[in-house]
Amino acid sequence: MKQVMDEGILATSKYEKAPRLTKERCMEALTFIYGQIDRNLETFKDTFPSEASTGNIYRQVGNTEWTPAFWTGMLWLAYETTGNEKYRLAGEKQIESFRQRVEEQRYTNTHDLGFLYTLSCVSAYKLTGNEEAKQIALDAAELLYIRYLDQAGIIQAWGDLSDPKQQGRMIIDCLMNLPLLYWASEVSGDTKFYEAAASHVRMSARYLIREDASSFHTFYMDTETGQPKYGSTAQGYADDSCWSRGQAWGIYGFPLSYRYTGDAELIELTSKIANYFLNRLPADYVCYWDLIFTEGPEERDSSAAAIAVCGLLEAAKHLPVLDPLKRQYENAALLILESLIENYMTTHTPESNGILLHAVYSKPGNNGVDECCIWGDYYMQEALVRVTRDWKPYW
Ligand code: GLY
Repeated sequence: MKQVMDEGILATSKYEKAPRLTKERCMEALTFIYGQIDRNLETFKDTFPSEASTGNIYRQVGNTEWTPAFWTGMLWLAYETTGNEKYRLAGEKQIESFRQRVEEQRYTNTHDLGFLYTLSCVSAYKLTGNEEAKQIALDAAELLYIRYLDQAGIIQAWGDLSDPKQQGRMIIDCLMNLPLLYWASEVSGDTKFYEAAASHVRMSARYLIREDASSFHTFYMDTETGQPKYGSTAQGYADDSCWSRGQAWGIYGFPLSYRYTGDAELIELTSKIANYFLNRLPADYVCYWDLIFTEGPEERDSSAAAIAVCGLLEAAKHLPVLDPLKRQYENAALLILESLIENYMTTHTPESNGILLHAVYSKPGNNGVDECCIWGDYYMQEALVRVTRDWKPYW
């Protein structure tokens, strides 16, 4: 793995002592989330919430984007933590839509099959032993595997594999799609999925992470020679800035790969990128939409903050008990979570059918800026589940 600098945590004192956040307060926040899910249960029965809200209200959309399974994942989390059958029935009903999507290969020209099928079908299989869901997720893994470019050792993110604009382009978000492949190897016994995921994560570490431990959003590889080309952004402020959600995908995605590969270098790398992230948080611990901003009027991205909480907690699990970083990451996760609960939830925005305010989907695209984003809601729920019980990831 290439040399990546470690800034360390610059203000360690902030993360030395455990924050005030109590389990009761987290349970209260979860109860609020169940209420919002109940409110949406009828609306999003055969449809899904839009990627981002408009005026903090999600619209109904079909199963076409990269995001519908975040809602289904929320249903499965609610079922797992309450045991209430209404959530299981709602989650199961949605499996049909995911079956159709993969069977008809509609909107499947994307690496986001991992997000889509981990949260809708792997979750259903893990929680209820649903064999149909298992098969659908395996079919999705086969489609994702087709996107693995052998010569370059990466999974192409977007578009047709022959599209010159997208050819050989990997993106940091893809780290969250790899668990579908690792899982598929485990249940099918076919190691090709594992090999592809393990190669992709190594390439991501080498090329998406810069020497200062910040990240490119996207990076192009030459698919014929396998040589690296250049990094660029799609949703960040600039090609050479550090898109906050990308960094958060890294903080969560690398330790998830560690779970399956046991490659200790991935945890070392996670620490470096997590430290870079923590060193650029504003006073309330919720990042701006790009880490180039640390103060001022730019928008926050609460969804990146929620992803980072899950990632910090996951990384902390894999650090030795005596490593001070373990406690510091747990404390940092709780500080961010506390801030999200107190200042970013829709608790005092009764018109909203979302959970987390002040997320940004794409600032350069002027899409979903300062809105609720459905993945932010999912990761907020997952973060609360993680701190209130011993949770086995669907990832
Ligand atoms: N995976 C797309 C995004 O984070 O916006």
